[in-house]
Amino acid sequence: MPSYDDTVITFPLAVAHDVLMRPLEEGDFSRLCRAYLRNRDHLRPWDLRRSEDFFTEQGQADRVRGQLKEREAGRLVPWVLALGNEVVGAVTLSNVSLGSFRNANLGYWIDAEWVGRGLATEAVRAACQAADGQLDLHRIEACAMITNLASQRVLAKCGFGVIGTAPKYLHIDGEWRDHVLFQKILNGRTPG
Ligand SMILES: CC(C)(COP(=O)(O)OP(=O)(O)OC[C@H]1O[C@@H](n2cnc3c(N)ncnc32)[C@H](O)[C@@H]1OP(=O)(O)O)[C@@H](O)C(=O)NCCC(=O)NCCS
Repeated sequence: MPSYDDTVITFPLAVAHDVLMRPLEEGDFSRLCRAYLRNRDHLRPWDLRRSEDFFTEQGQADRVRGQLKEREAGRLVPWVLALGNEVVGAVTLSNVSLGSFRNANLGYWIDAEWVGRGLATEAVRAACQAADGQLDLHRIEACAMITNLASQRVLAKCGFGVIGTAPKYLHIDGEWRDHVLFQKILNGRTPG
C-alpha cells in the first residue's frame, strides 16, 4: 500500500474567492478564447508569440482537443481555474515522464483581474499535491523569466528551490529570454 494517501486531492477544488480548479474539458474552448482575448496584453510579456488563430474559438477548440489527447497519452495534466462560466486562469503539468525520472514541467497564468489574491499560489500547491499523491511523480520543474518576480515569488511560496539561471532559455515575446529554473522534490519514494 502506498504511504502517500494523505496527499490525495480531489477536483474540482475550491481554490479561493469561489474560483474552482478543475480538469480541462472539451467545452472550455470558448471560455478560453474569451480569457485569452481579455488577457492578451497581460500575458504577452510572459508568453510565446501567439498566432491570430490562437485568439479564435476554432483555434482554441483545436488546442483543447490536442491537450486532451496529450492527457490521454499521459503526457499532460491540464487544469483550468473557473469562476462561473468564465476561465480566470490555468495550471498545466507538461512533459510528464515516469520511470526513473518521474518528472513534469509546471506552467500557469492568472487573469489580470484576479492577480494578487493568492490564486496562483493555491493552484500551484494543489498541482504539486496531485503530482505527488495521484500522478506519483518525484519532481516538478518550473521556470520564470528573471524579470517575472511575481511568478518567482509564487514558486518560492510553494516550496520550489532555485536551480540556477538559464541564459536564453525560452523564446518569449519575440526574444530568447534568460530564466530562473526552479525545482520541487515531492517525495523520496522509490519508483514502483
Ligand atoms: C505570475 C502570476 C501567475 C501570479 O499570480 P497571482 O495569483 O497574482 O499570484 P499570488 O497572488 O498567489 O502570489 C503573488 C506573489 O507575488 C508577489 N508579487 C507580485 N508582484 C511582485 C513584484 N513585482 N515583485 C515581487 N513580488 C511580487 C505578491 O506580493 C505575492 O506574494 P505575497 O503573497 O508574498 O505577497 C500572474 O501574475 C500571471 O499570470 N502573470 C502573467 C503570466 C505569468 O507570468 N505566468 C507565469 C509564467 S512563469
